[in-house]
Amino acid sequence: MAARINAANAKSVGLYERAKKVMPGGCSRNTILRSPHPIYVANGKGCTVKDIEGKEYVDFANNMASLIHGHANPKIVEAVGKQLKNGTAFMMATEAELEFAEHMCDRNQGFGQIRFMNSGTEAVMNCIKVARAYTGRPMIAKVEGAYHGAYDYAEVSQTSNPDNWGRVGEPERIPVACGTPKSALSDVVVLPFNDPERSVRLLDRYAEQIACVLVDPVPHRVGLMPASGEYLTELRQWTNINRALLVFDEVVTFRSNYGGAQETLGIKPDLTALGKAIGGGFPIGAIAGRYQVMDVMNPHNKPLLVPQAGTFSANPISMTAGRVAMELFDKSEVERLNVLGEQLRRNLREAIGIAGVQYSITGFASMFRIHTKPLVPRNYREAFSSPAESSQLFLLMDQLLRRGYSLINTGTGMLSTPMTQTTIDRFSEVCLDVFKHSR
Ligand SMILES: Cc1ncc(COP(=O)(O)O)c(C=O)c1O
Repeated sequence: MAARINAANAKSVGLYERAKKVMPGGCSRNTILRSPHPIYVANGKGCTVKDIEGKEYVDFANNMASLIHGHANPKIVEAVGKQLKNGTAFMMATEAELEFAEHMCDRNQGFGQIRFMNSGTEAVMNCIKVARAYTGRPMIAKVEGAYHGAYDYAEVSQTSNPDNWGRVGEPERIPVACGTPKSALSDVVVLPFNDPERSVRLLDRYAEQIACVLVDPVPHRVGLMPASGEYLTELRQWTNINRALLVFDEVVTFRSNYGGAQETLGIKPDLTALGKAIGGGFPIGAIAGRYQVMDVMNPHNKPLLVPQAGTFSANPISMTAGRVAMELFDKSEVERLNVLGEQLRRNLREAIGIAGVQYSITGFASMFRIHTKPLVPRNYREAFSSPAESSQLFLLMDQLLRRGYSLINTGTGMLSTPMTQTTIDRFSEVCLDVFKHSR
């Protein structure tokens, strides 16, 4: 849609016109796009951001769930500033990496060892490679609709839709990127979320070939509802019995407890993929897990099974920012945000009732998602929006944006530590008003 230019958007329209000439679609990341043009940010502080036109927003998107302390946290800025003056990347080891590794391993008893990389995509990719090397098997199993980044195998069926998703008992293997080799698809088993019986039946069929079962314990794209205890227990038992690894993608959900969602849900995976919030606002990924499994990356072994590397892996900027961010996200801050999250979900459900609209709320810990459908979805297929529900959600997000609230375009919000009771109360009031006017 062409943007109508007025005093409130002239600068943004101008930038977007220039951007479209030099980048496909005018950006390097489709998730920042909004119709008719992206919002160009001027600066961010705490839980607010200001755009280049001077409008302020309370930021519930937090760079796609990656900013647990909001923007420009003074302690992180100070520590990173010091490190910047001392250099940003070296072909030598740093104490910053070691300190952060020690901190992360202290947070969760299941993290015997850890290795760092630069994105959640890489973290998941390395988990899969390690699982294959450890088990000597090629296949993985993953949940329909779950987003794990852009590695060919991990993205299978992330965007499947009613026209191509097939039977619920055996979801089709649908590529995300055109041109994905058939061989990649044939090495992935797609599981229905929170359906232990059907999932185990599918897994049994490929039992000898499965290296790992990859699960996000509260998968955002599936609908942001937690995996049930029964589901995770079945997957844990199945992987134990069949000598496959259980891999948790906690790139987003690590925020839900001091040691991640696995602590709350009471299931210990063999490997955990980490990223986003643990980087304190800088690019990060990490893989953590029990010693015997992590040891396949040990270069002192002959032969070395997985030679994991990366030019900017464990650069001291991400390591410093990450350590300070995680130290600040201590047990009491985790708990405070989770309580606020619980209260916000309650407020939103109440607002839906008062406004008399056909919406529902999911979420966990400090995360929430608004669905423009009356019944709380239980899996990807139920959470999938019809065209009418998608347009309704688009209108809601647009109204919230106009009122100064920025969310992820799926209707999802993530709390950050600069947020308080007042932030939550004000947002709840605005939502009530926006819900009432959306009838
Ligand atoms: C659950 C999950 N895993 C992995 C990733 C990929 O992380 P990154 O964007 O850092 O590659 C994401 C990104 O949104 C994610 O939500």
